[in-house]
Amino acid sequence: MKIIRNIAEMQKYSDSIRRAARKTPHIMGFVPTMGYLHEGHISLVNAGAKDCTKMAVSIFVNPAQFGPNEDLTKYPRDEQRDLTMLEETKSVDCVFIPSAEEMYPEGYAAYVNMENEMTKTLCGISRPGHFKGVMTVVAKLLNAVKPDKMYLGHKDMQQAIILTKMIKDLNYDTEVIICPTVREKDGLALSSRNSYLSPEERNTAPVLYKALQMAVSMSELGERDAAVIIREIKRKLKEDRVEIDYVEIVNPMTLEKTEKISGSALIAAAIFVGKTRLIDNAVIRVSE
Ligand code: PAF
Repeated sequence: MKIIRNIAEMQKYSDSIRRAARKTPHIMGFVPTMGYLHEGHISLVNAGAKDCTKMAVSIFVNPAQFGPNEDLTKYPRDEQRDLTMLEETKSVDCVFIPSAEEMYPEGYAAYVNMENEMTKTLCGISRPGHFKGVMTVVAKLLNAVKPDKMYLGHKDMQQAIILTKMIKDLNYDTEVIICPTVREKDGLALSSRNSYLSPEERNTAPVLYKALQMAVSMSELGERDAAVIIREIKRKLKEDRVEIDYVEIVNPMTLEKTEKISGSALIAAAIFVGKTRLIDNAVIRVSE
């Protein structure tokens, strides 16, 4: 497993792989991460390893996607543990670990942004500038790694939809593959931020998954009015004494708010358990 910390070297490595494989071209898969890896990330690596002949993973805690009062400085980091986990998959050919100075040297000025319904809703409301930071860093990572396929998790569905749109609009030659959320036995979606939870908060955290499942059940029982479902989910979450950031039902492609559910919809929510912000979502599918 090769470790690269420099953009030019990363580009050289990708180019050399392509040149070395003139007869049977390599398919380069890529999993972008902020490190402190868990089984969710590993499932993305494993999905990639099935489709691709080479796999690259990046580890970079991207300052540009954190707001001034967010958790950039205390975001969990453990490079050695991450490298061991990646080595154990036996599927990763290269880990790209640039420094903040490498990605954003002094005088850095170019950002990728998109101002539309996709970025102005859900997490975009309480985390202004977050998706601009995500788009910018992923654009830079794609230019460094030059992957054929990029693997993203369903838990961060808004991010995946925005990045898919960015890739299309900016003509990146990379396919996005969205993989299922990996969960603990009690339903809590795996997230590096779960490490912030105290034992008591950890016991409370699965309420988010349970509430979303309740929404799915309501729709299966015939409820089509998004406002009714949202009201019920908020009532349940308040009963469980967590602070709600948002609960919304949206179109799963455009993220526009849905009033009457037909076909499929996405119920997405963000809550605070103590000081930790958790997000999750579930797909609602109804027959017309
Ligand atoms: O989902 C994440 O961990 C990050 O937002 C990403 C895609 C690695 C960009 O920093």
